[in-house]
Amino acid sequence: AIEERITLLMDQMTLDEKVGQMNQYNGSWDFTGPLPESGSEEEKYEHIKKGWVGSMLSVRGTDKVRAVQKIAVEETRLGIPIIFGFDVIHGYKTLSPIPLAEAASWDLDAIKNSARVAADEATAAGLNWTFGPNVDISNDARWGRIMEGAGEDTYLGVKVAKARVTGFQGTDLSANNTIASCAKHFAAYGFAEAGLEYNSAEMGTSKLYNVVLPPFKAAVDAGVRTFMNSFNTLNGVPATGDTFLQRDILKGAWNFNGYVVSDWASIREMVVHGYAADGADASAKAVTAGSDMDMESHLYVKELVKLVEDGTVDEKLIDDAVRRILRVKFELGLFDDPYKYCDAEREKSVTGSEAMNDAVLDMAKKSIVLLKNDGNILPLKKSGQRIALIGALAADKNSPLGSWRIAADDNTAVSVLEGMQEYKGNTLVYEKGTDVSLGQQLFVQEVKINSEDYSGFDAAKKAASEADVVVMVLGEVGFQSGEARSRTELGLPGNQQELLEAVFEINKNVVLVLNNGRPLALPWAAENVPAIVEAWQLGTQTGNAVAQILYGDYNPSGKLPVSFPRSVGQCPIYYNHLRTGRPVNSQDNVFWSHYIDSQKTPLYPFGYGLSYTSFKYENLKLNKSQYTKGETIELSVEVTNTGNLDGKEVVQLYINDPVASIVRPVKELKGFELVELKKGETKTVKFTLTDAELGFYNNNGDYLVEAGKFNVMIGGQSDKGLTGQFEIE
Ligand code: IFM
Repeated sequence: AIEERITLLMDQMTLDEKVGQMNQYNGSWDFTGPLPESGSEEEKYEHIKKGWVGSMLSVRGTDKVRAVQKIAVEETRLGIPIIFGFDVIHGYKTLSPIPLAEAASWDLDAIKNSARVAADEATAAGLNWTFGPNVDISNDARWGRIMEGAGEDTYLGVKVAKARVTGFQGTDLSANNTIASCAKHFAAYGFAEAGLEYNSAEMGTSKLYNVVLPPFKAAVDAGVRTFMNSFNTLNGVPATGDTFLQRDILKGAWNFNGYVVSDWASIREMVVHGYAADGADASAKAVTAGSDMDMESHLYVKELVKLVEDGTVDEKLIDDAVRRILRVKFELGLFDDPYKYCDAEREKSVTGSEAMNDAVLDMAKKSIVLLKNDGNILPLKKSGQRIALIGALAADKNSPLGSWRIAADDNTAVSVLEGMQEYKGNTLVYEKGTDVSLGQQLFVQEVKINSEDYSGFDAAKKAASEADVVVMVLGEVGFQSGEARSRTELGLPGNQQELLEAVFEINKNVVLVLNNGRPLALPWAAENVPAIVEAWQLGTQTGNAVAQILYGDYNPSGKLPVSFPRSVGQCPIYYNHLRTGRPVNSQDNVFWSHYIDSQKTPLYPFGYGLSYTSFKYENLKLNKSQYTKGETIELSVEVTNTGNLDGKEVVQLYINDPVASIVRPVKELKGFELVELKKGETKTVKFTLTDAELGFYNNNGDYLVEAGKFNVMIGGQSDKGLTGQFEIE
């Protein structure tokens, strides 16, 4: 029925109106206030009234959305409703942990629920389309947007992509609390050379098919309704103008029937890339390649009608794009009730509700990774202790919100200081020690201003000298990661490392709580500091989550979704690399694959994370040792909680195909289970492997399962575990 309704509508549409559906503007003024009288805002307003705007981005709040929708519905000739997009990346106003942190939970139900509650709050504010999830795989900590994805691993990325899409979209897209989602950035944005934002990506087909594309395909399989292309070139072609990606793969091989939006001005940027001569050429190339909607290039609306009329662009391409866009609008139910997301009462009751806060707190606790806990310094005792809390980030109510927090009010996170103040049995003394400034701005004019201040060091050292335990909250401010926040150093910004060492000299009982949106390289801390807690940027409930972990009211179970390097020189570093011809020092000479000044292993490997209890793995079993192609391989392992507390463990299964027609990674995650174990309890954890896990894409993009031997490993992290073998005949 939807397709018929679209046909009926399209039969009435002029070419102008069709092209209008393909135009998206940012709504940068208050639509409930005075009308814009000049410039780009006035032009946008006029275009909305003419029916030349199919979508708005960043207009939010029921009153504003209603005001714009009213123009579209009541003042345009055909009254086609607008679809309202927004970056609901890890929450709308009540924020959950940054996506990389959520992935560290390996808890797919929790991740799905986090997307679900985000959709609930965002739709209550009038929105019906999120520009998420970001399903970019990335293994380069220098890249600021590594915080937005699920990390370096494709298998985990696939599972998380599915959880997020189904969480956002729910089971009924036409409900008023579900939101159309958007798989982005198609494709290979996470492989920007040298981690430099917007830089080119160059890769062969093996990496493209086996590493980059699967999470996008998983999003399609989960029913994602939209895609966003990316700013980068891939092998010399801007993704926005890439026919192979958008038409051959996405809309062809994968049969995707939703629509593709460009990234912000990425159609126009094809001119800057040197791929299009001017705006008209860029528009023709983008639409031909399959970019259906123009986000803020202002080009489709200006150029496409002319391009169709002069025969440069086939009108069928316009019709195809418009049909896709209208399809999603129909599925959302916007034609039946264009104001369905504009219920001010619902907005009031849902936004920032207790239920929202409970949900993000739950997610935050699950996202924390315990990296080190020598001598069981954690959990902290709840009484009789003097605790020095040190570091500017400990009292920061803004940074924990991360860098995608457009709708959140400033300073609305619970700080670690506030979270710890809830525990009243100890004496808590806070000292800032030093500031963490946003280094990025210092380079605006290519001039670095040294703003480091040491005046707080003495007070911090004094507090440490009088304390039983020192908790130091150090790391990056929220805007030090995210879009356009590439870094060439991965240590603690500013003079925080010096502060850490100065305090440690006074008191060795240091618990380092890290706040960061990317892997950091902290070899000194890993070597010296007895306890390290990776607390990322955990959103609105940061302080409560951290305090509950530190005091042992929640037993950490997170595992790293990305390798932590020893130094920036190791980047990109990832566990599932290919084997070189000289992987080990077998000849006792210098000619093997290594660094002469560092180990080549990561500081903390993918999949790594501790608990306040301990786990033992035993009895890895396979149901057979030889299988025929297509047969299901059944594996099991016994996992015992050998410590004194109940806990959760992410049991991970890795395989390696030692001889194949294309060299396969040394190890690949192919299964995981988050298992809850009471103290002393043993559980048998079962896995199956089928063709879906055993094969790979060759350089033509064909999926192959090859006969031969396979190695298997099951354990609690990527570099250690019980091993076995099997063979496929
Ligand atoms: O969704 C984002 C995208 O990830 C980066 N450029 C802007 C878009 C809209 O805000």
